[in-house]
Amino acid sequence: MSEAGTPTTTRTVYDPTAEAAEKALCFRGIWAWLVLLVLIGLCIALVMWLLRKIILGPVYRKPNRIDGKVVIVTGCNTGIGKETVLELARRGAKIYMACRDPARCEAARIEIMDRTQNQQLFNRSLDLGSLQSVRNFVARFKAEETRLDLLINNAGVMACPRTLTADGYEQQFGVNHLGHFLLTNLLLDRLKQAAPSRIVVVSSAAYLFGRINREDLMSERKYSKFFGAYTQSKLANILFTRKLALLLQGTGVTVNCCHPGLVRTELNRHFSGANWTRNMLKVMSLYLFKTPRAGAQTSLRLALDPGLECSTGNYYADCMRFPLVPWGRDMDTADWLWRESEQLVGLPPIEPNNPNGHNPQNGTGARPAVAAASPAAAAAAAAAAAAGDAAVETVVVDRAAS
Ligand SMILES: NC(=O)c1ccc[n+]([C@@H]2O[C@H](COP(=O)([O-])OP(=O)(O)OC[C@H]3O[C@@H](n4cnc5c(N)ncnc54)[C@H](OP(=O)(O)O)[C@@H]3O)[C@@H](O)[C@H]2O)c1
Repeated sequence: MSEAGTPTTTRTVYDPTAEAAEKALCFRGIWAWLVLLVLIGLCIALVMWLLRKIILGPVYRKPNRIDGKVVIVTGCNTGIGKETVLELARRGAKIYMACRDPARCEAARIEIMDRTQNQQLFNRSLDLGSLQSVRNFVARFKAEETRLDLLINNAGVMACPRTLTADGYEQQFGVNHLGHFLLTNLLLDRLKQAAPSRIVVVSSAAYLFGRINREDLMSERKYSKFFGAYTQSKLANILFTRKLALLLQGTGVTVNCCHPGLVRTELNRHFSGANWTRNMLKVMSLYLFKTPRAGAQTSLRLALDPGLECSTGNYYADCMRFPLVPWGRDMDTADWLWRESEQLVGLPPIEPNNPNGHNPQNGTGARPAVAAASPAAAAAAAAAAAAGDAAVETVVVDRAAS
């Protein structure tokens, strides 16, 4: 209070210099924050980019071509199989696209021919859920080709509701394992004729959760669509690879299996979560899952790398060889599964005293006359196949009956 009892007022003196200095400081302060934010943003982007690179995994970059080599890829109208065919077509292969839906296969075939200018692509029907379809496919192929350089068992179905194949087997075991088991066995003679040749089996790291349920192989008593049936079928892929590698020792045919990674494909088509979970997964998968192209790289390395000429019976992921857990190496189960699979698909048992396990004439236990690779036999088979299914039956019956 002033002496007169009136309050004193403090007068602010306007100082233009101080004001300008304060403004400049403030201005610089904003820039400092902006720069800091940009730096933080860049760091996050870099970390995310590196993480994405790690998720995508290595790319097979060797430029080797495989002009004219005869290749079969199963389930290649979409996903990993389609990308595999695209790359093999770029490298000059002659490819038989083995798919169950001819229309979807044709669309993929035309797209790949357009993109690669490779006209040596063929659309062939193969439903691995039908043993007859497998046999028909093989008969037609054998009528057309006397050699097979590369077989890629890629097709697969995951976590579907319990359904049966045409032959009454549980769908995932039937398609993922039994269909490919029969297909491969019936093609061994052509693979041996083309040696050095290769078989690639697309399995999954999900095998880690798998057990071969000897008491209930078809999941009749209890069906768990992912942790039971799918993982069992993928473990079966691995045990099949291990056993086949032993049987093929010294033949020049190698067989390896792989896990392609977590890949954004149609494989989860049977996923039955709520809409919001599906949408959330879809968005997350854009970043967290591999692209189909990235998912195809391990199959491509196994199919193409000249450095893997002698590798057989091994398991790969991210283009690298990985050790298998004990139940992936269990040869007792592999032997049992092989014998059981032979019975289920109607193949004769491998001969116990033949280290290669199969009739050396043709590699499949088929009677020599049926699988003869001479031009005359091939021409006869071609004519027979053209005549229709009856001819197809002849080949099948002979193989199974020997
Ligand atoms: N995607 C992943 O994250 C992942 C992870 C581990 C392992 N894998 C394995 O990778 C392989 C390829 O899967 P993907 O991810 O590319 O799946 P995808 O996009 O669903 O492709 C699967 C392919 O298999 C075909 N197929 C299904 N049932 C068949 C049958 N009965 N006969 C013939 N073909 C059949 C499908 O044909 P349709 O289009 O006609 O159904 C399709 O062409 C599978 O063996 C899968 O188990 C995938």
